[in-house]
Amino acid sequence: MNAQVIDGKAFAAEVRGKVAEKVAALKAEHGIVPGLAVVLVGEDPASQVYVRSKGKQTVEVGMQSFEHKLDAATSEADLLALIDRLNNDPAVNGILVQLPLPGHLNEDLVINSIAPEKDVDGFHISNVGLLATGQKAMVPCTPLGCLMLLRDHFGSLSGKSAVVIGRSNIVGKPMAQLLLRDSCTVTIAHSRTKDIEDVVRRADIVVAAVGRAEMVTGDWLKPGAVVIDVGINRLEPTEPGGKGKLVGDVDYASAAEVAGAITPVPGGVGPMTIACLLANTLTATCRVNGLDEPEGLTA
Ligand code: GUN
Repeated sequence: MNAQVIDGKAFAAEVRGKVAEKVAALKAEHGIVPGLAVVLVGEDPASQVYVRSKGKQTVEVGMQSFEHKLDAATSEADLLALIDRLNNDPAVNGILVQLPLPGHLNEDLVINSIAPEKDVDGFHISNVGLLATGQKAMVPCTPLGCLMLLRDHFGSLSGKSAVVIGRSNIVGKPMAQLLLRDSCTVTIAHSRTKDIEDVVRRADIVVAAVGRAEMVTGDWLKPGAVVIDVGINRLEPTEPGGKGKLVGDVDYASAAEVAGAITPVPGGVGPMTIACLLANTLTATCRVNGLDEPEGLTA
């Protein structure tokens, strides 16, 4: 194995430390305590784990956490009414509605009802447009985390060739926008891309966000490429009753033979997502109060 391991767990702890420091200063100097509201509809087990973890880390950095757990059968009108209350609550600086939502709820409608300045997920169409046009936006947390890891590794990303595998609104598309903003030459590859291995092999930076276990293998990579693995996939258990192994979208063993640096799964991009959610909540708080934005915690 040759590749440097990019330790997202340690980097995320650093980000949370910076957020906590700035939160303490906001409290001491301005009497402001940032607040994050998380809305969970239904009982999806994975979502419950994420929401619990978000609440815990929010409190740990000194922010206020508001959790709203709603029944799976909650009507769209009731959910929209809650969001309206949160939009108008000055103690709430950030609002996150955990996705996926139950099928009877219109995700686009719900997300676009969040006040854009409180949209710490960066999913509101206003924030998507602001990011695409190079204006001050709230930026989706997972791509922001990937960008921070890449900037830390390279310093400048200018002129690098980057391939983003996956075209989701949550990761692929905003990731491509962020890399473009940092002056990379960006390609988005997806399930219909022809000769995808050859496309990926041209890249200095590979961001894999497709949700297919171990799809990208070492022979797809240019030697020395930096690989950011966003995937979290659970393999079938090898024994009855066992828990399947967690793997990324990249076949770690073969990729690490060829890559210059690589994020592991778990312990790579995963911990960065919540750290960036906290960073975004801090950024939103600073903006609404007309204060300087936290350095190194924004795109
Ligand atoms: N579900 C999976 N990832 C995310 C995310 O980043 N934000 C929200 N709101 N829901 C998610």
